[in-house]
Amino acid sequence: MSLLQIMPDDDPATVLLRTDRPELITEALAPLAVTFERWPVRPLPAGASPDDVLAAYRDEVRRLCDDNGFRLVDVARLVPDDDDPQWPATARAAREKFLDEHTHAEDEVRCFVAGTGCFYLHAGGKVHAMVCEAGDLLSVPAGTRHWFDMGARPDFTAIRFFEEEDGWIGEFVADSIARRFPTLDELRAAPVA
Ligand SMILES: [Fe+2]
Repeated sequence: MSLLQIMPDDDPATVLLRTDRPELITEALAPLAVTFERWPVRPLPAGASPDDVLAAYRDEVRRLCDDNGFRLVDVARLVPDDDDPQWPATARAAREKFLDEHTHAEDEVRCFVAGTGCFYLHAGGKVHAMVCEAGDLLSVPAGTRHWFDMGARPDFTAIRFFEEEDGWIGEFVADSIARRFPTLDELRAAPVA
C-alpha cells in the first residue's frame, strides 16, 4: 500500500497528514516539485531478470525517458535469501548506505515494480515519508534533502532512471535527523486512519 506521512521536521511524533489516497499524495507532494505516478502493476516471472522487468514496462519507461531526457535505465533488486549466510550482513549494509540525509545533483527517479521502500523528503520544514509499493513512481528533485529506508528485511525491485552516469552519487548532510523519524517498518505497522 502506498502511504504518505508528513511530520514537522522538529517533531517526529506529530502527524500532519497520513494518507494512502493517490490523489492526496500527488497534491501534497506537488509543492516540492515531486512527481508521483501510479503505473500499472504487471505480472513478472519468478526470478525476473532486469531485462524481463524492463520488457514488462517498456512503454512506460520509453515515455518517461522521452519526456524527461533520461539516458540510462537499470533495475535495482534486493530480495531476502535466507539460505545465504551473508544475507543479514548484506541487508544491513545495503540499508545503512542511504539511511542518512543526502542530496543528488540530478533527480532521483524510481518506479517500484515489487516490494517496498520509503523515501523521506525533507523540505519546507517538514519530513514527507513516502512508502512506495509496486506501481509507485516517485521523483526526488535534484538538491532535495532526503533519505531512504528499505527496512530491516529489504525486499524490493525498482526501475531507476538517470540523466548522467554519476548523477545519482549522494552528497551527505552532516545531520542525524533521519534517525529521529519512524522507520519504514514502523510506518507500515501503524493504521492509516
Ligand atoms: Fe538518494
